[in-house]
Amino acid sequence: MKRLIPVSLMLLSTTPAFAEQRKSEPPDREVWVTLGTDAVAPMRESFKSAGWDEPATVLAKEHASVFRLRESQLSRLATLMHERFNRCAGFITYDTREEALASLEPAPAVAPQSLVTYTLDNATTVNTLMGTVLESNVRSTITSLSSYTTRYYTSQSGVDAANWLLSKWKSYVPATRTDVTVELFRHASWAQPSVIFTIRGTTLPNEVVVVGGHLDSINQSGSTAPGADDDASGVASFTEVIRAAMARNYRPQRTVKFMAYAAEEVGLRGSKEIATYHKNNGINVVGVLQLDMTNYKGSSTIDVGVVTDYTHAAQNTFLRNLITTYVKIPQTNTSCGYGCSDHAAWHNLGYAASIPFEATVSAGNPYIHTSSDTLARSSGTATHALKFTKIAAAYVAELAKGTAQ
Ligand code: BES
Ligand code: ZN
Repeated sequence: MKRLIPVSLMLLSTTPAFAEQRKSEPPDREVWVTLGTDAVAPMRESFKSAGWDEPATVLAKEHASVFRLRESQLSRLATLMHERFNRCAGFITYDTREEALASLEPAPAVAPQSLVTYTLDNATTVNTLMGTVLESNVRSTITSLSSYTTRYYTSQSGVDAANWLLSKWKSYVPATRTDVTVELFRHASWAQPSVIFTIRGTTLPNEVVVVGGHLDSINQSGSTAPGADDDASGVASFTEVIRAAMARNYRPQRTVKFMAYAAEEVGLRGSKEIATYHKNNGINVVGVLQLDMTNYKGSSTIDVGVVTDYTHAAQNTFLRNLITTYVKIPQTNTSCGYGCSDHAAWHNLGYAASIPFEATVSAGNPYIHTSSDTLARSSGTATHALKFTKIAAAYVAELAKGTAQ
């Protein structure tokens, strides 16, 4: 299936001057959009039949082009992409021409990172954490998150879901853990915040391991967006790692940050801002694990698809070794064909990112982005998602190392 061709993601400026400038703009502002070459002709046809002017091409490259559009034209483009390419969005919007143009340039050189060695020598901690996680807890988090009418990034219920998760994560932290913070990461351009749980590293606090998934959901036909698999499942999977880490007094050597990103479904916007924040502040993120869609068992013979594009080859090998050694479940390689989730936001800024997926990409949950993305359509249990809890536990214990009791 043809999908959006590689486009890298760049920062959204959040300087005060920029924010001022945006406030005074008319509501139908100009935006810059990168679109895969295969979608250009369908877009032109669609705009023509709506009686709109030919969209202005700013730059055309082999795989993708940049267009200047009006914000009000985006929903027609989104519908087209969904109908013709069976994809949500499938294009990426930018606030400035410069950002859109820069996104078509190759990813910058890898950020100055310490050399992490992908060794497997912390089995005791891995097994303590893996032995603590429970399916019933993962299921309960999926049930709670998917009970919001929508977690759309501009909706009040999307904000409520973020605050609910903040409270849940805070409830896991014993009063003695002064090395732990749980906070919102607010975004200037929309209501839903991201949520971040940080455990400061004991001996290497300036090296950061990130585990994330997206908090928002979407349904293009405007009815309920339970997003039970996409992506309550991913958030629930690593929420259970947080619970186990606190229950077992886990003390990592490196800093560990668990992140529930806002606004993924509308172009990785939350993770782009967060990854950019880390880049701009010179924060040494040594590895990123994304969990997006973990609870639909799409293949009878394969439990995990390791996504090979927009990810880091050496870290992917490490991930495959963790799965073989500790979780002992069948896996295969797979690919999205485009930057399909928040790992791509990190990857495009030069960070090492990986994403273990619930199946091969083509065998993933067919109900996402509809009112049918419910727990019931993923067997009514979190048995599959729990496997990803274990993968994330192993990833954290071997990349951030440290001990547990
Ligand atoms: N969870 C999906 C990505 C996905 C879908 C991966 C199916 C594998 C199989 C994610 O939330 C999503 O919908 N991403 C968008 C792209 C993003 C840049 C807006 C998509 O795939 O259209
Ligand atoms: Zn989605």
